[in-house]
Amino acid sequence: MITIALSKGRIFDETLPLLKAAGIAVREDPETSRKLILKTNRRDVRVIIVRAADVPTYVQYGAADLGVAGQDVLDEHGGQGLYRPLDLKIARCRMMVAVPNGFDYQRAVRHGARLRVATKYVQTAREHFAEKGVHVDLIKLYGSMELAPLVGLADAIVDLVSTGNTLRANNLKAVEEIAPVSARLIVNQAALKLRRSAIQPLLDAFARATA
Ligand code: ATP
Ligand code: PRP
Repeated sequence: MITIALSKGRIFDETLPLLKAAGIAVREDPETSRKLILKTNRRDVRVIIVRAADVPTYVQYGAADLGVAGQDVLDEHGGQGLYRPLDLKIARCRMMVAVPNGFDYQRAVRHGARLRVATKYVQTAREHFAEKGVHVDLIKLYGSMELAPLVGLADAIVDLVSTGNTLRANNLKAVEEIAPVSARLIVNQAALKLRRSAIQPLLDAFARATA
């Protein structure tokens, strides 16, 4: 059995066509089914539905052989035990620093102000500001980061931006790009070594579908 870990929503939706190109059709829709283990048209392939941030953990421990996870999630996880053969070029966005429209970020940075930064992406933010030599107090949040500067919890946020609609709707502006983000195929390293003949054809099919 080959187990593929996906998260509900955009990762599932955008991975479906790639699975299809590899000859795999998922039999149930995670938006309507409450099932967490989904059958496919292949008796030897199943999909499990986990939270986006948990995908690398399932693959790291071998509970799933493969998974699809955003670069943001992989950077926070650290990537231990994972082989990351392929950028799937789906779920594309950018990791950005954003501040309220009236806030002079460059001036604050120049003057060596200690910034309070709210984010779900603590490792990414820590590394980014350390590289810039900017002192920050990091405040860990689990979502709705855009709210933090509006109610005085933080000066800035580090979050994903795609269309910019969420920032605009909350009177925030992006001031710095940290990294482009897309989702990668991840594979359990031991599974790839021990079951290469079963897994490699899938990797090849994904590679062809994203080329
Ligand atoms: P959860 O729903 O478990 O809290 P999440 O909100 O991070 O997790 P999704 O919103 O489905 O889960 O995001 C999954 C991945 O898609 C993210 O890890 C990121 O790589 C990418 N992503 C997030 N927001 C966007 C966006 N606005 N546009 C494109 N890709 C995005
Ligand atoms: C992500 C991210 C931003 C938003 C940016 O949230 O955390 O809030 O997308 O996208 P935009 O620039 O196109 O507005 P997501 O869509 O995952 O919202 P959710 O966490 O509520 O699912």
